[in-house]
Amino acid sequence: MERRLFLADLTRYAALCAVVPNIWRVTSRPRFADDPFALGVSSGDPTSTGGVLWTRLAPRPNEPDGGMEGTRATVDWEVAHDDQFKNIVTKGRATAGPELAYSIHIDVDGLEADRWYFYRFMSGQAVSPVGRFRTTPADGAHTPLNMAFMSCQRWDQGLFTALGHVAREEQLDLAIHLGDYIYEGASPSTALRKHQGLEIRTVDDYRRRYAQYKSDPNLQAAHARCPWLVTWDDHEVDNNYAGLVGENVMESTEQMQQRRAAAYQGWWEHQAVRVPRVKSWADLNITRTISWGSLSRFYMLDTRQYRDDQACGDTIKPVCAETLDPKRTMLGDAQEQWLYNGLGSSKAHWQVIANQVMMAQYDAAPGPDFRVSMDQWGGYPVARDRLLGEIGKRAPNRTVVITGDIHTNWVHDLHNGFSRPDRPVVATEFVGTSISSDGDGRDIDAARLSAMQAENPHLKWYSARRGYVRCRIDEQAWNVDYRTVPYVTRPDAPISTATSWRLQHGRPGAERTA
Ligand SMILES: [Fe+2]
Repeated sequence: MERRLFLADLTRYAALCAVVPNIWRVTSRPRFADDPFALGVSSGDPTSTGGVLWTRLAPRPNEPDGGMEGTRATVDWEVAHDDQFKNIVTKGRATAGPELAYSIHIDVDGLEADRWYFYRFMSGQAVSPVGRFRTTPADGAHTPLNMAFMSCQRWDQGLFTALGHVAREEQLDLAIHLGDYIYEGASPSTALRKHQGLEIRTVDDYRRRYAQYKSDPNLQAAHARCPWLVTWDDHEVDNNYAGLVGENVMESTEQMQQRRAAAYQGWWEHQAVRVPRVKSWADLNITRTISWGSLSRFYMLDTRQYRDDQACGDTIKPVCAETLDPKRTMLGDAQEQWLYNGLGSSKAHWQVIANQVMMAQYDAAPGPDFRVSMDQWGGYPVARDRLLGEIGKRAPNRTVVITGDIHTNWVHDLHNGFSRPDRPVVATEFVGTSISSDGDGRDIDAARLSAMQAENPHLKWYSARRGYVRCRIDEQAWNVDYRTVPYVTRPDAPISTATSWRLQHGRPGAERTA
């Protein structure tokens, strides 16, 4: 808000306050009958000197305002070297208010590079759970990185057991969530655990859905374990939306604009992200880079907000003329140029594209027929090949694409243009399965995989189990373990490594190591 407007507003409010109770009053001694930190804590978007710390006051998370009943309250925060908070490094005070669902975002700075810290929040008599977070190595350092990435945690189709295993990984510096953090729909009566309410549309709806998801203890444990990098996919707003085109064709552009504003605001309020707020929530730009020293640079993409509508009426179809229109975009011009400029100018050893929908071509039809998912990059083949061409030019064989969305695990060679499979491999795509979406999952037999590979020779491995992907990245190689659980419809599933892959820096194509 401009200062002049702000002052004008202040004058108006002062007049208002003379006759009505002061709605701007902030209490430093709120009294809570229930735990206001029931949604846990999280951290994200680390730098070499800090990171963003998050919590939200919500003593009764299912209620529209989280049970705060309009009470503005101060929240104290502390960062320490130890989990007993004897050796405090920095601390401060913030205010939680209804405009942002009583969420708190603290962008801490002034910390030491490449170091672990503990953090917590306090409001009134209440103290939050303790979270761990860390800073990144300083610019120039090639310190190895232990990272996990995941996506697609549909509440009503499975338990978040895999996230509990993320929280218990022995070595984990960073977690990356590639979207479908919440799902927008209502639940069928047969659901394992039901979404509260019907399909969500308003900001109150999205807030309550985030509160329901954030109440999960496995999700809370994974957040408290280490900093996260979060981007969104479609279900944070509406299934397969494209720009301002929703799934339901009866929903107008204006309705989608309002819905997107509500959804993007709800997302921002519930994630520990360094994403500047904008005048209109409907236009929130979440693309950003995060660097792990000079070892690796992460590009957080948004493949939903700026894309053209899915061609040929969406779903899996033969390629139609519309698909091949060179003007069609997945990222929008600004994001595309931002990504190319970044890939061209970055001195980082590895370039990592944190992406939503599958980038590799996938022909789903056996024999001479050719059918692709119009929602994935395959439905935007000119834009996809343009991006792969730029990777080939600017950062060949040191670029990794990590992908979610599809609820299955895949390893792909990415050729410099899928329209010309004789062109060299310039990058590798690791697609991670869902945490819980689509339920228990299943094994894939060798015959099925061979049939898929006959149509798609760049496909190296595929599995339909639930879980996440663990990566160890150093100067020599990108090592990947596909971590899977045998079921998600019952609690306490064990975790195991289904397979391991190794991509050597400067060499095309990942190799299976286990
Ligand atoms: Fe999903």
